[in-house]
Amino acid sequence: MSSRHSATITARAGIAQDPAYGSVTPPLYLTSTYELKAFKQPGKYDYSRSNNPTRDLLGDALAELEGGAKGLVTSTGMSACVLALQLLTPADTLVIPHDCYGGSYRLFVNLANRKQAFKVVIVNFQQDNWAELVRDAKPKMIWLETPSNPLLQITDIKAVCDLAKSLSALVVVDNTFLSPVLQQPLALGADIVVHSTTKYLNGHSDIVGGALITKDQATGDELKWWANCLGLTGGAFDSHLVLRGIRTLLPRMKAHLENTAFVVDFLQQQKLVAKTYYPGLKDHPGHAIAKAQQNGFGAMVSFDLAADEAYLPVFFNALQCFTLAQSLGGIESLICHPGTMTHASMDAAAQKAAGMGPTLIRLSVGIEDSRDLLADLAQAFAAVEQAMKADGVQPAQAIATSAQAEVQATTALPAVAPATQSSEEFRLNPALAAFW
Ligand SMILES: Cc1ncc(COP(=O)(O)O)c(C=O)c1O
Repeated sequence: MSSRHSATITARAGIAQDPAYGSVTPPLYLTSTYELKAFKQPGKYDYSRSNNPTRDLLGDALAELEGGAKGLVTSTGMSACVLALQLLTPADTLVIPHDCYGGSYRLFVNLANRKQAFKVVIVNFQQDNWAELVRDAKPKMIWLETPSNPLLQITDIKAVCDLAKSLSALVVVDNTFLSPVLQQPLALGADIVVHSTTKYLNGHSDIVGGALITKDQATGDELKWWANCLGLTGGAFDSHLVLRGIRTLLPRMKAHLENTAFVVDFLQQQKLVAKTYYPGLKDHPGHAIAKAQQNGFGAMVSFDLAADEAYLPVFFNALQCFTLAQSLGGIESLICHPGTMTHASMDAAAQKAAGMGPTLIRLSVGIEDSRDLLADLAQAFAAVEQAMKADGVQPAQAIATSAQAEVQATTALPAVAPATQSSEEFRLNPALAAFW
């Protein structure tokens, strides 16, 4: 385990490690293959699917950041998930959460149903009896995503890991939504962390990539073998960009968190917002756990628009500063409708079971000036209000429509009373003050 702090690990990722010319920023090794020293005398590197110096620098930096033994860089976040699943056989059971990224859900369910690669049991970790359900499933592996996508539900990583140990099960945590500077699952007992580096780690929305970090060396070695065997490894150029991205991870996350505090505060005051989902809110069911296991509440926020879904295009079309797009974690603010975009691969029943209502909207809050972000949201809400007025729809009617969506959204969840809160209260976990 490294004694260096995250700010140092990130700022110095790949710095001053060039053995050839001493370049301060790392060289980019764009090569598929490497010359042998002589017949039967390969050097450290032989072929870039197996190993590449640029990719290795990124893997090492991520392992140090997450406090793991080995960091493997993959071509996408999904290939990092595929890689972790190589530890399972058809006789094994994988427990997955009922709400997770739609692409991960599609992968798990299709590998189980169409390939019989393993068995899947879906558990709602927000239910009181989750431990009983996990125990009954007799899993070989438990998959967690916390905060979850798109409802930002929180799972107690340590509690799940403690139970997993008693069942000899592995715990994999998708840490994409927070990045290692805001949450370190291995320290809480997890065995493997996966990331879509496409998101906060790269931070500039210009590549797709993934990573997997193992707590122990043996699992890391086994998965490195599978990554090469299956051809899941990431490219050198993408690795170079992610390495560059993570050098600014801390200041970026700080700016993301500050802006998110303002956005959440603003959403709480809007009459066209039926409900805001953000773990930083004191009345969020996972608030206390988030405060304990995270170093900040993140920059992802979801909310139910208190209007019929017919008004969604009015809202999206009016926005100038929030771009309607898939993905998250870049410096630019993005907005999406999970039901038809990121989670379209979940059928209507699965979306309903996950608690997703038809007017659920997800924001990835960027690092623009918060005043511009709030002004943009304000004029989009005003556009919806105006359109409703033109249609003769009273806000009260619209709120009733949204409340119905909320009934679905809370079938598996404790109801959350709306409340307002000052941005200061949930801006940062106090632990982060020392951190920065
Ligand atoms: C939480 C989470 N995990 C994994 C992925 C998959 O990553 P990628 O798109 O890089 O394959 C995503 C993508 O949005 C995600 O949000």
